[in-house]
Amino acid sequence: MTDAGKTILVTGASSGIGRAVAAHLAKDGWRVFGTSRSGRGGPEGVEMIACDVDSDDSVTRAVSAAAVHTGRIDALVNNAGWALMGAIEDTAIAEAKAQMETNFFGVLRMTRAVLPLMRTQGGGHIVNISSLSGVFGTPFSGVYSAAKFAVEGMSEALRLEARPFGIRVALVEPGDFRTNLPSMRRTVAAAAASEYAAAFQRFHKNQAKDEAKAPLPEPVAVLVAKILADPNPRARYSVGMFTQRMVGPLKRFLPGALFEAIIRAALKV
Ligand SMILES: NC(=O)c1ccc[n+]([C@@H]2O[C@H](COP(=O)([O-])OP(=O)(O)OC[C@H]3O[C@@H](n4cnc5c(N)ncnc54)[C@H](OP(=O)(O)O)[C@@H]3O)[C@@H](O)[C@H]2O)c1
Repeated sequence: MTDAGKTILVTGASSGIGRAVAAHLAKDGWRVFGTSRSGRGGPEGVEMIACDVDSDDSVTRAVSAAAVHTGRIDALVNNAGWALMGAIEDTAIAEAKAQMETNFFGVLRMTRAVLPLMRTQGGGHIVNISSLSGVFGTPFSGVYSAAKFAVEGMSEALRLEARPFGIRVALVEPGDFRTNLPSMRRTVAAAAASEYAAAFQRFHKNQAKDEAKAPLPEPVAVLVAKILADPNPRARYSVGMFTQRMVGPLKRFLPGALFEAIIRAALKV
């Protein structure tokens, strides 16, 4: 089967990266089911389904709704997510759990829901949208990073487990892209009156400057399409501005202390 006519489910298709991915694949001829919590807001050519990835029932209903039309789901892009900001010391356990609920358990839930179908149909692709924060622990985004590291570990394991069933798993590690992520960001309640407030503000100002220069997310969509067309994709792909794409190789090849010094200087922490 060529990509045209294949069925894909993209979570978080109402905005940003997910919307760009869904639109791009629909233009390529995929039958695209996109999700958002309201079931609205998708681009042209994308069939939207309501799905809150925090909820078992909602995920089960959404996957069934997509599968009922075509009897198969050839690919899943786990993209839905949001970002929690704040120092680790200031992060309440409930705040951390909410972040993990969407950004890690949401990915796990969706993945578990599509795997039985992918196994019985003889294969499929799962692409998990991680982050540069899944490559190194980003200050003042420590729990966001933790969720992305968890997605990275789970994806590596699933890649090995699911391969005999023809299921291919890949991670995408975007740098900064211009989306609604900054405006949807939640800051921990204790941040304002914190000992870390000055450092946090400095970091945040610097981050906002990087985000203002960030490109639109089309390159992520092009990369996802390339991964889906590959019968044997790599484990991980970085995408974004050159200096951000360099972080993975620098972490792999530089001594730890030197890598950390570069990160401290670059992030002004
Ligand atoms: N933008 C970047 O610079 C960047 C960099 C690295 C990684 N990422 C990752 O890329 C992914 C997409 O982010 P984005 O930048 O495109 O942000 P965005 O524009 O805010 O889009 C987030 C999407 O996730 C959906 N969503 C949020 N919570 C959800 C939930 N509980 N259940 C279902 N859907 C939910 C939103 O849909 P509704 O609100 O309509 O439900 C929306 O469609 C995230 O995983 C993020 O961590 C982004």
